Amino acid sequence: MFEEDQVWEYSMADRLKFGPGAVQELPAEIERLGGGTVLIVTDEGVRDAGIVDTVVETFPADLRYEVFDDVEPDPSAALFDRAARYADEVDPDVIVGIGGGSSIDVGKAASLLSTHGGEVLDYVAQPTGEGQPIPGPTTPYVAVPTTAGTGSESTSVAVVSLPEQDLKVGISDRHLFPDLSVVDPALTVSLPPAPTACSGLDALSHAIEGYTTRRFDAKERPDSPADRPDYGGRNLLSDTLCRQAIELVGDNLRRAVNNGEDLDARRNMSLGATMAALGFSNAGLGAAHALAYPVASEHHTAHGLTVALLLPEVMRYNATSAPERYAEIARLLGKEVDGLDRRDAAEKAAAAVEDLARDVGLPEGLAAVGVTEDELPRFAADTMQLQRLLVGNPRRMDADDVEGIFQRSL
Ligand SMILES: [Fe+2]
Repeated sequence: MFEEDQVWEYSMADRLKFGPGAVQELPAEIERLGGGTVLIVTDEGVRDAGIVDTVVETFPADLRYEVFDDVEPDPSAALFDRAARYADEVDPDVIVGIGGGSSIDVGKAASLLSTHGGEVLDYVAQPTGEGQPIPGPTTPYVAVPTTAGTGSESTSVAVVSLPEQDLKVGISDRHLFPDLSVVDPALTVSLPPAPTACSGLDALSHAIEGYTTRRFDAKERPDSPADRPDYGGRNLLSDTLCRQAIELVGDNLRRAVNNGEDLDARRNMSLGATMAALGFSNAGLGAAHALAYPVASEHHTAHGLTVALLLPEVMRYNATSAPERYAEIARLLGKEVDGLDRRDAAEKAAAAVEDLARDVGLPEGLAAVGVTEDELPRFAADTMQLQRLLVGNPRRMDADDVEGIFQRSL
């Protein structure tokens, strides 16, 4: 007999610090985490934008630090291992990841592998990896995002690319939560318009998918609390976070893209991305994130862009399953829904996302990033493997349904 789960849990980084200038408090935080030698994990773009300098200028003269700045977009397992071996040499007491999701993820793994040894694939789930559990706490880790979108600083996941297999896999474990997330919106002002737009749509998709994912009591009660999935289903707390995040992104992304120096817009975007991440990382996601995986693996498109290209048609497909939720999303994104029947109101949500994506300069349709019709059956089959994401989608879908969504998104 189906016994519904009556309990929900909430997990997040040990601490979160938010606000312009928050990064100035890093030396005190490093001290609090034990001081000693610091390893900074980042990428060239962040370094060239002067952000690493901004951070290390706050360090006292006697604080020893080393910088690993070789992180690339969609970091491969080999890159994760290279960062870990660098960390072995440095033997840091504290690791600080500075950048977008890639740098923050590589920093998480450096903290894991420099403490417990091995290679990143040892901790990736079987059959791709060895599926080893993380045995205990890892090197103290501080995550400092320079974009407003991925929310990696608020999650316990690191995404690893396996380019030979056109595959992306993740390590997910509570020990990967940062000890501290420092979200300083001032660090995002130098982010150019295109990555601002892509990461902003990623944040919006987190909030929308987190808001519409299945409820926590739609799943069976686990035999043991340890078996309760990380994506436990939406609850009133995640709903509140996601609803606010949708509004913040809808009201501020255009401004942040049009004028990167608009600190008020940047602050609201960082806040929206953070709230969305705190929401989805506990509630779960949906089909747009699942469908995006095979496309991004094949075409190397930015994650936020890929999800944004798929989200409207996923929303249209899902609208009949939770019309009142989609109508609420339309309202939060500034659409007039009073007096409309639920179905028409829900349809306005998908149109609102399309309007926003167009206004911030994203291309329209998967064909614009090189996707062709003959790829779609394979993408649909690959999507069906991502049950971890699909299980939360509010409307059931089979491979034909998924292919239909791809078709309508071309
Ligand atoms: Fe995402």
